[in-house]
Amino acid sequence: MYPLIRNALFRMDAERAHITTMRLLSLFPSAAHWLTVTPRPSPLLQQSLWGLNFSHPVGLAAGLDKDGVAVNALFDAGFSFVEVGTVTPKEQPGNDKPRLFRLIEDGALINRMGFNNHGEAALRKNLLKKRRIGTVGINFGKNKITANDRAADDYVELMETLYPLGDYIVINVSSPNTPGLRDLQTEHSLIPLVERVLAKRDELYRAHEDTVQPHRPPVLVKLSPDLSDSAVQSLGKSLAGIGVDGFIATNTTLDRPKLLSANKLQSGGLSGRPLAQRSTQVIRLLYQATQGAIPIIGSGGVFSAEDAYEKICAGASLLQIYTAFIYKGPPVIAEIVTELEALLAHNGFHHITEAVGSKAEDHVSPDI
Ligand SMILES: Cc1cc2nc3c(=O)[nH]c(=O)nc-3n(C[C@H](O)[C@H](O)[C@H](O)COP(=O)(O)O)c2cc1C
Repeated sequence: MYPLIRNALFRMDAERAHITTMRLLSLFPSAAHWLTVTPRPSPLLQQSLWGLNFSHPVGLAAGLDKDGVAVNALFDAGFSFVEVGTVTPKEQPGNDKPRLFRLIEDGALINRMGFNNHGEAALRKNLLKKRRIGTVGINFGKNKITANDRAADDYVELMETLYPLGDYIVINVSSPNTPGLRDLQTEHSLIPLVERVLAKRDELYRAHEDTVQPHRPPVLVKLSPDLSDSAVQSLGKSLAGIGVDGFIATNTTLDRPKLLSANKLQSGGLSGRPLAQRSTQVIRLLYQATQGAIPIIGSGGVFSAEDAYEKICAGASLLQIYTAFIYKGPPVIAEIVTELEALLAHNGFHHITEAVGSKAEDHVSPDI
């Protein structure tokens, strides 16, 4: 069934197809459920991380549901967790269209969306509207008009507004489409910024401690694949040192490895298959730098159980997909989950946690 829907969607401009899909999912939350089978619960794949339960390791990456309009529909599609955002404090339109491009021959996308979103108040309203049926992460970004030396104010404000609504929080300083954002990935800028967000989280936690369900959301940092290996390692160590709870590796890349599609010359962040190798390498570097002490969510070119397995062995505890969801639709989730279970068992693992980082010491291949 999905190939038919995909044919219809792929006849549209990429962003129009995206808007149509999100509108349908928000109006008919069970629609995705008709297109796929729910992944069967598997004791081998279940994990508890940061006090949160994950029935399997495949979640939705940030950027698809920026405003949290279709969260339950996305759980119905089979994701075990859904990350909404990137949200910025104020609503902003993002870059001029067209800004999303398919690279079909490469199994990739290029986007230069630029954090188009309706802002923190709208996301808050959407998340409060419906009872959520799974783990929801919120990905924070700064407004384009906020100067880098005031960026921390935006992230702290988002924590203040959205604190009770995120099961986990992501500090996104790695999107390539907000001018200067990735410059925040130096230790000099990032460490004080993250310290302020952690301090705000802890202050809010103390204020809510006697509520019915006290919740101290873990704070993760999402990194770019375009950092040098040594920058990844030293950021990994320093962020671990100040108490960051996790990493997402990685965001999209500005690099252009060998690509076939006509759209290869579009500017923006490249995602999908051509990103897979570098994002796995960044996972491995982070796992090595932190000696596996801090959970990593792997993101970048996961299309199959083999791709997922590679990232898990490099050090990822969980995975996120975006581009594969566009190309293969909801059935890709159950496909990865079912085949991953078999792959782990075939390789002698009794539980996914035994595989996490099992090949982290392998040779790190050169940057793409
Ligand atoms: C159209 C599009 C929009 C995205 N928007 C965001 C975003 O707002 N925030 C973010 O952290 N990552 C964003 N990403 C990056 C994805 O979350 C993900 O990290 C990246 O695409 C790599 O995963 P993939 O190869 O499975 O797509 C976006 C990706 C795409 C393709």
